[in-house]
Amino acid sequence: MKWSICAQGFALAAAFLLSASGMRAADTFKPGDLWPDDQGKHIQAHGGGVIHVGDTYYWFGEDRAQENGRGMRCVSCYASKDLLHWTHRGQVLKTDHLEDFGRSWILERPKVFYNAKTKKYVMYMHIDGPFPGHRGGYELARVGVAISDTVDGNYQYLKSFRPLDHESRDIGQFIDDDGTAYLIFEDRPNGFHIAKLSDDYLTVEKDMCLIPEHLEGGALVHYHGLYYVVGSHLTGWGANPNVYATAKSLSGPWSEFKDIAPPEKKTYGSQSSMLIKVTGTQTTSVIYVGDIWRPRTQWDSRYLWMPLQIGDGKLSLPEPAEWSLDVQTGVATVK
Ligand code: DGJ
Repeated sequence: MKWSICAQGFALAAAFLLSASGMRAADTFKPGDLWPDDQGKHIQAHGGGVIHVGDTYYWFGEDRAQENGRGMRCVSCYASKDLLHWTHRGQVLKTDHLEDFGRSWILERPKVFYNAKTKKYVMYMHIDGPFPGHRGGYELARVGVAISDTVDGNYQYLKSFRPLDHESRDIGQFIDDDGTAYLIFEDRPNGFHIAKLSDDYLTVEKDMCLIPEHLEGGALVHYHGLYYVVGSHLTGWGANPNVYATAKSLSGPWSEFKDIAPPEKKTYGSQSSMLIKVTGTQTTSVIYVGDIWRPRTQWDSRYLWMPLQIGDGKLSLPEPAEWSLDVQTGVATVK
């Protein structure tokens, strides 16, 4: 009896502590749910990118937490060994102004690359805002670059520019199997670029191809000898049917674009951000990383991560369901 009272008391205390500290991390991926970090707070890494360094994955993205304060633009970094449980490593970039961009400047879709030659972490981000004297909007269409000696910052902002002199809004990142780093960027007048970074990653050096389609949210994976590129149509924060194409080489020719899911599902309310390839001892899984935007309550925007059905030139995003992943074997299991 004594023990059962004691156990009940313990359970109550644990429940209280949990509700005081926030949510508990789940042991499966639950697309669209709140996704708590190690402190029980919903992960703030929207429009993000994930890199794998050693045995650890790092997820960078827009930190839109309400407590950041008005006017602040923040990038958060999280670390994980299994892609499911994430430890918040901090806000690695946090500022309310950059250059002379004015008060309504925009920082979106940060991506970090590790340069093994210079041993620097290099962050690219979409920088935007109105032209001087204008009131608002996405007119600057630039990328910003920041660097750090350590993965979790702090990142020192270096500069902004238009890659290869083109407009650039949504950016995506791709690291090929040989380690070469590419930036994918949306160039409103022309289409969708896949471009190689310079040796030090501090600038965009060479266009591999311009796909003449108006797509954003660019994501790429190299899987069994074929490149698969995914993109979203230009509908602002509203979801649309995202599409994919394939090519044997990054410079193309690219196939026609096809829907990644039944078009009426509008990518299950999400927008592509990146594709993560997990190569394990048994198999290779490719995970679609998408944002479910909540434009009026951006801090509450959700994530849709699902293993893709991919191969032989076909790619499809299954209906969201609970799933698990073993990063050692590479096996993803949909429940
Ligand atoms: C769609 C983009 O993919 C987002 O990153 C963001 O720029 C919104 N447009 C803004 O409307």
